[in-house]
Amino acid sequence: MAEPPLPPDTAYHGDPRHYDRSRALPPAVRAAIVAALAAALPPTGWVLDVGAGSGRFALPLAAQGYRVLALDASAEMLRHLQAKRPPGQTVPFPLLADAQAMPLAGEACAAALSVHTLHLVPDLPRAVANLRRVLPPHGLMALGYIAHHPRDPVGWVLQAWREALARHGYDLDRPMWRDMPAVEAALARAFGTPRTVVAARWQQPIAASQALQAVAQRMFTPYWGLPDPKHQAIVAELTAAARRVFPDLATPQPDRRRFVWRFYRRPLTAAR
Ligand SMILES: C[S@@+](CC[C@H](N)C(=O)[O-])C[C@H]1O[C@@H](n2cnc3c(N)ncnc32)[C@H](O)[C@@H]1O
Repeated sequence: MAEPPLPPDTAYHGDPRHYDRSRALPPAVRAAIVAALAAALPPTGWVLDVGAGSGRFALPLAAQGYRVLALDASAEMLRHLQAKRPPGQTVPFPLLADAQAMPLAGEACAAALSVHTLHLVPDLPRAVANLRRVLPPHGLMALGYIAHHPRDPVGWVLQAWREALARHGYDLDRPMWRDMPAVEAALARAFGTPRTVVAARWQQPIAASQALQAVAQRMFTPYWGLPDPKHQAIVAELTAAARRVFPDLATPQPDRRRFVWRFYRRPLTAAR
C-alpha cells in the first residue's frame, strides 16, 4: 500500500482570508443552516464548535445569543474569527486545542457541532470519545457538511479523486481522506442513529476546469497529504477523464449542493 507522509498537523495554517473567500456561502444559505441548527439547540449552556475555523457558524450563533466555545487547533483561524466580530457583538470564546484532547470537564457543554473537521482528525475514535465526554446525557452533537451532486463538477471531481487514490494503492481510511460515511459511522458507534435535516439546497455555477484547478491547487483538505509528483500525476489523469465526461470544461454549469445536519444525542446509558 502506498503511504504518503502525514503533514505535522491537520490545523489550517493558510491565510484565513483566503479560507473565507473560497468557502463563502450565499447569505440566505448560511442563515438557513444556522436556523436549522438553532432549532435543535438547547436555549442555555455552552455550545462547542469543534474545528470552528474562522467562525462560519460560530459567529452567527454567537450573534443569536448562544454562548459558543470555538475550539480549533489553528491560532491563525481563531485570531481571524475574533477580528471579524462586529462591534458590540458577543464573541465566541476561543479555545486553542486539539479535538483529540479537549481541555474541558465532563458534561461541560450543553451541545456540540462540527462542520468539515472530523474527517481531518488523526485519531477519530478519540475525538468522538471526547465529544461524548463533554456532553450531558441526551446532549446534542450536530455533524454538518455540504454534499455535492455526484454528476456535477465538484462532486464528480471529488469522487474521481478518491477513485484515483484507490487505484494508485492509497488507503483512504486516514485523516483528510476519510469520507463523511466514515465519520458518520464513528459517531453512530458512540451516539446511535442520528436524525437528519437537510438545511439548504442551492446551486452554484462552476466550470469543470475550476473544480480541477481547486484540486491542482490543493484548495480543500481532501487534496492535501499526497507527495507533489503523485499529486500532479493524478490531477493529469483526472483532467483527461473530465474531458470525456464534461464536453466543455471551461463553461460554468450548475453545481447542485445540499447542507446536511446529522443530529446525534448522547445516550442515556454509560459509555461501553
Ligand atoms: C475545513 S475547516 C472547517 C472550519 C469551519 N467548521 C467551517 O465549516 O468553516 C477545518 C478546521 O478544523 C481545524 N482542525 C483540524 N484538525 C484539528 C484538530 N485535530 N483539532 C481541532 N481543530 C482541528 C482546522 O484548523 C480548521 O480550522
